[in-house]
Amino acid sequence: MTAPPEARLEPGTVALVGGGPGAWDLITVRGLALLRQADVVVADRLGPRALLDELGEGVEVIDVGKRPGAHLMRQDRIGELLVEKALAGHRVVRLKGGDPYVLGRGGEEVLACRAAGVPVQVVPGVTSALSGPAAADVPVTHRGTAVAVHIVNAHGDLGPADLAALADPGTTTVLMMGVEWLPRLVSQAVLNGIDPATPVAVVQEATLPGQRVVRGTLADIEEVVTAAGIGHPAVIVVGRTATEGFLDVAVREATRGAGREALVTGGDSAADRSPAPVLIGCSHGTRSRPGRDVLRSLLRRIAAQAPGAVREAFVDVQSPDIAEVVAAHAQPAEARTRETGAVQAVVVPLLLSLGYHVKDDIGDAVAGRAATAAAPLGPDPRLAEVMAQRLREAGLCDGDAVVMAGSGTRDPEGVAQVEEMARLLGQRLGREVSVGFAYAAQPPVADAVAAAREGLAEGARVVVASYVLAPGHFHDLVSAAGADAVSAPLGDHPLVAEIALERYETALGA
Ligand SMILES: C[S@@+](CC[C@H](N)C(=O)[O-])C[C@H]1O[C@@H](n2cnc3c(N)ncnc32)[C@H](O)[C@@H]1O
Repeated sequence: MTAPPEARLEPGTVALVGGGPGAWDLITVRGLALLRQADVVVADRLGPRALLDELGEGVEVIDVGKRPGAHLMRQDRIGELLVEKALAGHRVVRLKGGDPYVLGRGGEEVLACRAAGVPVQVVPGVTSALSGPAAADVPVTHRGTAVAVHIVNAHGDLGPADLAALADPGTTTVLMMGVEWLPRLVSQAVLNGIDPATPVAVVQEATLPGQRVVRGTLADIEEVVTAAGIGHPAVIVVGRTATEGFLDVAVREATRGAGREALVTGGDSAADRSPAPVLIGCSHGTRSRPGRDVLRSLLRRIAAQAPGAVREAFVDVQSPDIAEVVAAHAQPAEARTRETGAVQAVVVPLLLSLGYHVKDDIGDAVAGRAATAAAPLGPDPRLAEVMAQRLREAGLCDGDAVVMAGSGTRDPEGVAQVEEMARLLGQRLGREVSVGFAYAAQPPVADAVAAAREGLAEGARVVVASYVLAPGHFHDLVSAAGADAVSAPLGDHPLVAEIALERYETALGA
């Protein structure tokens, strides 16, 4: 066979070579041929690092290795470097892990070369998104079990398409760059109705001598991964094809007769089995990642004690929207029969007082459905207990003035509830507590802080008690009001979970 012209690397050109998942012999024949002609190699941390040792003495190797949170070189600088080296007349190989175009930013590097008039070619590689599962005996589209593979960058929240893929028994989902975020990914999946019994395999350093594979289900995979000390780089494979022993003849023999259903968990989820109405924890969404984590931890704490399934929903900023989640879990009222007439879903506002979101957003979502809305979390003496704890953690001293700061509402009933909460906090602390609001209601937090400062004893401070559930926009606003110290938001506290569960029971008339 004669090599095609693409297998020649001319001076002044760049080849983006997909190096495969790591084993040196999983690079393509063309990729290896080009690598052997290079006089400059720009290498990643992942991929076939062993091949770098085989390069000739005169070859310049530039390591731009990326690891989570610590990139050696910025992406735009990598593009510039490829162009600089090619324009200097070198034969340049950009050796990348896996395939250059699968979450590999290869497109940006091609664009940088083309913008500078540098000829560039791309050699596909064996992506870890598929070879990772394969290395762990996961046939991602096993006939009769899965017909699709969904590959996603799991370095953030899952989107609606990702959740749909996870929910679809005929799809295998591969989560890349997600091992550090496993708790977040699992929380989001489970709180959006993905069956906790869904099989999961995690494959670290696939195809390399250090390869490790662990298996579990969405319910226990965090524990399994932590116990085994699994870390980056790893792919997380979710779906029926990831079941332990899926390709194991002995396991199949043992379950013969029951067919493949015996190997997998069907659609009989906790939500389907549960006679208790679904608890929909409805928060104000947030763009703050720590804020989203706090809300999900709180919901999982609630889920650990709830009699039935628990789902997440939002009134703003984040999806899924409350109306959508209620519609998915509660029939329209007119479709109710004598048997199904019972309440199917209870919306528990993870909101601290009445206002537009509780009355209109949640009210509209449950109207005309076999669903009901519970009362918001506040006011409640237990929230005073949580705030007192947060104030202690923030270093509250005798003599300090305390301003309790909430997000704010135009609803007079909501304002009255926040004022009542401040009274309860004052009672708990044994000192007067004034109120301020981040927006809409009076007085603004900054004015309340300024007023509290007047007549303060020498050395005493003004401390804001943040009457906000989670980090995010509203906590940032109350933190920027000029106080000497600000307590942390209420957060994922057992008492907050206890109140939410009580609101659920009360709404059901229990
Ligand atoms: C920036 S992405 C690059 C993906 C690459 N372009 C590919 O196609 O494989 C890096 C992620 O790929 C996955 N990965 C790469 N090599 C791997 C390996 N040998 N074993 C397991 N996962 C790997 C991990 O999820 C890692 O966080």
